Amino acid sequence: MRHTKVKDLLNSSVTLQEVNAKGWVRTFRNNQFIALNDGSTINNIQCVVDFENTPEETLKRITTGAAVSVTGTLTESQGAGQKYEIKVSHLEILGDSDPEKFPMQPKKHSLEFLRENAHLRVRTNTFGAIMRVRSVLSFAVHNYFQQKGFVYVNTPIITGADAEGAGEMFQVTSLPLDNLPKTEEGNIDYKKDFFGKHTNLTVSGQLEGETFAMALGQIYTFGPTFRAENSNTSRHLAEFWMIEPEVAFNDLDANMDLAEDFIQYVIKYAMDKCPEDLKFLESRLLEEEKSKPQAERSEMSLLEKLNFVLENNFKRVSYTEAIDILRDSTPNKKKKFQYIIDEWGADLQSEHERYLVEKHFKCPVILFDYPAKIKAFYMRLNEDGKTVRAMDILFPGIGEIVGGSQREERFDVLVEKMKTLGIHEEELWWYLDTRRFGSAVHSGFGLGFERLVLFVTGMTNIRDVIPFPRTPMNAEF
Ligand code: 4AD
Ligand code: MG
Repeated sequence: MRHTKVKDLLNSSVTLQEVNAKGWVRTFRNNQFIALNDGSTINNIQCVVDFENTPEETLKRITTGAAVSVTGTLTESQGAGQKYEIKVSHLEILGDSDPEKFPMQPKKHSLEFLRENAHLRVRTNTFGAIMRVRSVLSFAVHNYFQQKGFVYVNTPIITGADAEGAGEMFQVTSLPLDNLPKTEEGNIDYKKDFFGKHTNLTVSGQLEGETFAMALGQIYTFGPTFRAENSNTSRHLAEFWMIEPEVAFNDLDANMDLAEDFIQYVIKYAMDKCPEDLKFLESRLLEEEKSKPQAERSEMSLLEKLNFVLENNFKRVSYTEAIDILRDSTPNKKKKFQYIIDEWGADLQSEHERYLVEKHFKCPVILFDYPAKIKAFYMRLNEDGKTVRAMDILFPGIGEIVGGSQREERFDVLVEKMKTLGIHEEELWWYLDTRRFGSAVHSGFGLGFERLVLFVTGMTNIRDVIPFPRTPMNAEF
């Protein structure tokens, strides 16, 4: 007999039929009740074992973590908490799990402990729910763009370009590190390296994405990106997934409209498809926040927060306005910020972003027209000569979730900018070709996928929303 998924059994409309289920034992109570989970849903199915007619030897092997196959009759449950249960007529242990050694005990484990067991943590309710929501969100991303006729582009993972000009890259080489070939001047001879040049893992697919937008009109990427920033925070990963749409003929306003509509769509999609997982994550968050002082607890529950984002427009504020607000804010005057804001031109830290979103506006905020000095080389210079058409979207509890801009489409202005920043024209000759041949206004943005998953699941550490996190000093699994 083929096995049926637990999710389908629990949604079944016919009972008293013979069924088979396979999964992992979550708990086994009173030598009789197995809570069986197969990952298809957050819910377990209760399997009632006929312990009088089951050999003692078998009963002993029904332990937390064991894989079992149960055959029996699907019946309406008498007990509270579940609609159906399986009255087991035949039980087979597929894979034992030594209860003395299995790390995922049926009790509350700390998130730190679970991170050290990332290969097993997905067997818990919390991580099962997070990973199902993550999967649905990634499908929603494709759905959104495909429905709108965007072309999905796979930009390279190994590249010679530093798209952000920030230099936080992992080098890719096949040169022997203990015996590096040298040039006559004594430098490392990258001509002898695998690609005949210096290469790194991509920090962003944007530059390649732009070349495709300037042919296909509307494109998006969705792939892994890498940053060797040594920031050990709850918002940064060394390997994360980024979604980067790029649209020809869009200006910054159209870019903001697209980002807002896109984010609202994927959140709504997850709420429609994952009601049970989100309900579970909501109660988990509530429980977690009980241990915090009142002032640090969220005013809204998880689902209220998600609904709030769907129902309210993101507040659009210029960088200059934001600086005025921050300069006059209580934490700035009382020197509560780690970085005091006193001048126009200051780079915003996450404490400032969160103040604007969580304390001042109390809604998602899009900041635009940043000082050119603190943004990447490719952003379009405004007529004032000192700000660029950049936009960042800031989310409560997260800070920056999106970074984007209208691109500098004027060849001369772009080349001039690259010169002042010391970016060599020869390295980006192909990028500059988009400005040489049929250049036009275009815009795009990058959304950090894990930051979106953080927001939707109500988790607080980015290491908990990616299967196997890569962070400084950690590449286990
Ligand atoms: O703001 P960033 O650096 O922008 C870019 O890379 C542009 N090329 C995007 C574009 O215009 N096409 O990164 C974009 C987003 C951030 O807003 C953040 O959500 C996420 O990527 N991000 C990270 N997420 C996790 N860990 C990190 N280390 C991240 N760095 C950026
Ligand atoms: Mg950014």
